Amino acid sequence: MGNDLIQIGSMPPPQGAGAGVSAAQDMALGAETVGDGRTFYLETFGCQMNVHDSEKVAGMLMARGYRPVDSHQNADIILYNTCSIREKAAQKVFSRLGTFGKGRTGEGKIIGVLGCVAQQEGERFFERAPQVSLVCGSASYSKLPDLLAQLESGERRVSGLGLDTEDCFETELTRRDNRYRAYLTIIEGCDQRCAFCVVPMTRGPERSRSGAGILAECGRLVDEGYTEIQLLGQIVNAWQDPSPTRWSFAELVARVSEVAGVRRVRFTTSHPRYFTPEIVQAVDSHPALCDQIHLPVQAGSTELLSRMRRGYSRDEYLEKINCIRKAQRAISLSTDIIVGFCGESEKDFEQTLSLLAQVGYDQVFSFKFSLRPDTAALGFSDTVSEEEKGRRLAVLQELQRQNQLQRNQVLVGQVLEVLVEGFRPRLGQAVGRTTSNRVLNFPGEPADIGCYFPVQVTSAGPNSLIGKRVTGDHGAAAQAERRAAWKSR
Ligand code: SAH
Ligand code: F3S
Repeated sequence: MGNDLIQIGSMPPPQGAGAGVSAAQDMALGAETVGDGRTFYLETFGCQMNVHDSEKVAGMLMARGYRPVDSHQNADIILYNTCSIREKAAQKVFSRLGTFGKGRTGEGKIIGVLGCVAQQEGERFFERAPQVSLVCGSASYSKLPDLLAQLESGERRVSGLGLDTEDCFETELTRRDNRYRAYLTIIEGCDQRCAFCVVPMTRGPERSRSGAGILAECGRLVDEGYTEIQLLGQIVNAWQDPSPTRWSFAELVARVSEVAGVRRVRFTTSHPRYFTPEIVQAVDSHPALCDQIHLPVQAGSTELLSRMRRGYSRDEYLEKINCIRKAQRAISLSTDIIVGFCGESEKDFEQTLSLLAQVGYDQVFSFKFSLRPDTAALGFSDTVSEEEKGRRLAVLQELQRQNQLQRNQVLVGQVLEVLVEGFRPRLGQAVGRTTSNRVLNFPGEPADIGCYFPVQVTSAGPNSLIGKRVTGDHGAAAQAERRAAWKSR
């Protein structure tokens, strides 16, 4: 969701039980040691899927005896997992590579580029950045150990760029970096070809993992101490069970939320075209499914949506919203918006603003349109100036800021359950997240991290809430009732 350089940074070393590589995995690490203690530094740009791909790449390398380090200076292998969703994101990797100069790194280091920019640029990368000796797209990650072995045995340049794969990049070992929330990719790639989007070209065709395989991984995650599972896919609700069980997406999320020990389940990103009332019913009746749906609309005018090739009209989108609003639970909504797409008139833009007011989103990720290689938009004329895009973005963000403030202020006095994700020593504040994905801070201590507490909201800003801890079951009985209703359908 809101694929805006969510995380940029290296992977910290594993911290304690439940983080990083589990005890069982530690034992497996000794099994194959081709890495022989050689060190790698992996930095990730972009969306949750990239973050999770990096976790899998790190797990796979560690299983082969490579060791993660937290700075490129100390690493034998430097890997950048890149994002090309907008031009600015794609540029980041070139500025990182600039650190090493145009020549080869000397010092015998291997520099590799992974992910969407690698896939997009392919072997041209070697000319643009001669210090790079490995390029590998996400559909070829299972080949990474072989590619590294080829480099170590003297090959100068290697690449993994095939997209005609059935590979869902399953790994035995995944080196997860959050101790309580585990990402789990259920579908790779995207077949939609929205006119602005480079993802189908960089991540290849849709490939779904089997329902049974997903549930088995959830069980392992609970055993390792995770309580929140976030199911990922560029188009997560287009998931189609490839196994004979043939569960629908709604059945899958319901089953994941029923795995004993799972307390929270989120899924992202849903495409409006595949969004069914069954998904809302599942959320309504399964307390562990979070009160939150991210449903990117992109624009408010039907004409523009059709130019974008989104596959729905404004009214069809609003019907889905209506269905979500009719749920018994108050489900929080978020979306993605692009401003300044080719041909966006002032009237189109006003329709986006009116949609925002009509729907009442709790969060909006908004972007200026950025023309990408290999997309249909390359053939469109009627571009909007950068200055005008900037103006529209500022207007939209200010409107949304006011909407969010109003929506959050309504919560003052309510008791919400939070999962504590962090601690701010300077303020003595625990950083909690509600099931509706809001940040709710309260006076706490470092030991609160990973725990669930009821917290009463005492004040609200546009982007976060402040509260205090209370006791009580806050609606557990009503939740149990809804769950029983779903089971007896
Ligand atoms: N299916 C994924 C899409 C990933 S892209 C998802 O829905 O999250 C995430 C968001 O980036 C998109 O929803 C869109 O709002 C934005 N985006 C994609 N291509 C873009 C482009 N060329 N310029 C600006 N924003 C873009
Ligand atoms: Fe991109 Fe559209 Fe797929 S936004 S990821 S082509 S659904």
